Amino acid sequence: MKKVILYIASSLDGMIATRQGGVDWLNASNEVLEEDPNAFGYIDFYKSIGITLMGHNTYEEILNFNIPFPYPDKINYVFTRKERDDDTNPVEFITEDPVNFVNELKKEEFGGDIWLIGGSQINKYLLNANLIDEIILSIHPVVIGSGIPLFAEGTLKKDFEIIETISFENTFIQIHFKRKKCK
Ligand SMILES: NC(=O)c1ccc[n+]([C@@H]2O[C@H](COP(=O)([O-])OP(=O)(O)OC[C@H]3O[C@@H](n4cnc5c(N)ncnc54)[C@H](OP(=O)(O)O)[C@@H]3O)[C@@H](O)[C@H]2O)c1
Repeated sequence: MKKVILYIASSLDGMIATRQGGVDWLNASNEVLEEDPNAFGYIDFYKSIGITLMGHNTYEEILNFNIPFPYPDKINYVFTRKERDDDTNPVEFITEDPVNFVNELKKEEFGGDIWLIGGSQINKYLLNANLIDEIILSIHPVVIGSGIPLFAEGTLKKDFEIIETISFENTFIQIHFKRKKCK
């Protein structure tokens, strides 16, 4: 069965964006990536997945970067409660409940593993339903004080084990977690 992997960056205080949705605090690592796209194993990870999932707020934030859509060769699903048919990017808008949708998607033959891009709300729904199999979290050495947390309010306790920890010389620490199966 397909795996769902939450591959995401956070601040030291567990935020994925400022309250306004900004991710400027990721600029230092983004600059390194511009020089060497595989600096942090990103290309290897990207090649390993076939599908992306994101909430509508995250999608809007990506559009605000004013760059070509970054995942053109993947199957991309965006969760929204609004009907949308006005978009030219290679994305499909999903109005179905994310938990039902991902439960079914994991059983499909096509696509390969799934990158859960975020954000906080979608992360919460899928975590609570035990649908996140692994988390690759890049923790940046910055406290941003307030913002959008990795998991939105209403998240339940879940246990993970650590598979690997990599330190990228004063840029960030990347921890790879695997969900402990429920007994
Ligand atoms: N640091 C990182 O690596 C990273 C990664 C990803 C995201 N982020 C940040 O995370 C922030 C966004 O997180 P967020 O929690 O605000 O939003 P989000 O999880 O990206 O998206 C929330 C949206 O998803 C849709 N949605 C929620 N529940 C739904 C349901 N049951 N069925 C269908 N659609 C549903 C709604 O869209 P509609 O309002 O259209 O209905 C809702 O507004 C952004 O600022 C982004 O930059 C950071």
